[in-house]
Amino acid sequence: MIAPDPKVSKIYYAKPSITELEVRYAADAAANGWGEHGSDYINRFEKSLSEYVGTRHAVATSSATGALHLGLAALGIGPGDEVILADTNWIASVAPVVHLGATPVFVDILPDTWCLDPARVEAAITSRTKAIIAVHLYGNLCDMDKLEAIAAKHKLFLIEDAAEAVGARWGNRHAGSRGVFGFFSFHSAKTVTTGEGGALVTSDDELYEKVLTLNNHGRVRGEARQFWGSVIGYKYKMSNLQAALGCAQMERVEELVARRREIFFLYKELLADCPGLSMNPVANLEQAVTADGIAESGKLRGSAKFDETGQSFGYWMPTVIFSKESGIKKETVLANFKNANIEGRAFFSPLSLQAGFTPAHNEISYDLSLHAINLPSYHDLTAVDQNRVAQLVKEQLR
Ligand SMILES: Cc1ncc(COP(=O)(O)O)c(C=O)c1O
Repeated sequence: MIAPDPKVSKIYYAKPSITELEVRYAADAAANGWGEHGSDYINRFEKSLSEYVGTRHAVATSSATGALHLGLAALGIGPGDEVILADTNWIASVAPVVHLGATPVFVDILPDTWCLDPARVEAAITSRTKAIIAVHLYGNLCDMDKLEAIAAKHKLFLIEDAAEAVGARWGNRHAGSRGVFGFFSFHSAKTVTTGEGGALVTSDDELYEKVLTLNNHGRVRGEARQFWGSVIGYKYKMSNLQAALGCAQMERVEELVARRREIFFLYKELLADCPGLSMNPVANLEQAVTADGIAESGKLRGSAKFDETGQSFGYWMPTVIFSKESGIKKETVLANFKNANIEGRAFFSPLSLQAGFTPAHNEISYDLSLHAINLPSYHDLTAVDQNRVAQLVKEQLR
């Protein structure tokens, strides 16, 4: 393999956007956020997140994985239960299901959303099914109208994995706000970050109390006895220091989300008219926006434009898919990216192919994972660097 040219600067796939505001809040938390002020930033962060998402409650956690574990446990998911989720996924969306002793059931995705196929979800329901986890992949949105109807009909819990979807919404309804609970990741690669971190959001008061208890080693709020657990719980708390970063990021959330959209649409423009190549679904966004005369295709620079169904994606990870016919494999493309000193990311491999599971032969999930990669996207990525990435993508097609 040819070594990357050290003179060509490296383009990372992700970097956080840290301004003087984040530094100031983190320094304040380090200097003053102790004793009676030890939870100030946590409380403020939870309030700003729940207000933004539109839920009654938010619980800041150490990761999205922890938030899902708490939420599933609070719903009583356990041995003998089945939980349906998409095969195209990050392992974190299934690990807590397995830890609780429940059985994951992997179904295929839709080719035009890369999210759960509602028809296949319904076909996979058995008498043991308890929940559906709807993952809004790369900031796309699941068809929640259909999933809600299915969950209501079969009396199932519908959970939203919005780990990658901060800012994605239907009109003013945010991803994460429609399920019995939703959860976010604030890992350093995400649009909003606290370094590591996550949150569970819900409007269900009872569930919220259960989650608080479970996240405090089973200690019920208001318990008079010190160090007294009422159930065996967990501890997935976010620290006040992390929450300080989160408060600053939430003050900038619209700017952070808008920038992701701007980066996506520049890639879309640079990679337009490339036969054999497609990108994240945009659900006729350009057409709808042009139709109402707001902006022309490709000039959507960052603002939260909605498609004809009222959706606006989060565009966390711009993704290119090489057609099956092109024969181009993601491993080859990623190796070429490495040689050019550009970090690419492999499209998620189906979970059912990975250790501990049985292959489910979900055709779309299996096919997409062979030919797709995620492109670099972060707040300070320059147009010059995006051009370099786009040129390299085009070279793969020659
Ligand atoms: C879809 C999805 N779910 C869950 C997670 C878990 O997030 P965390 O790393 O904060 O636990 C991730 C993380 O990238 C994710 O992409």
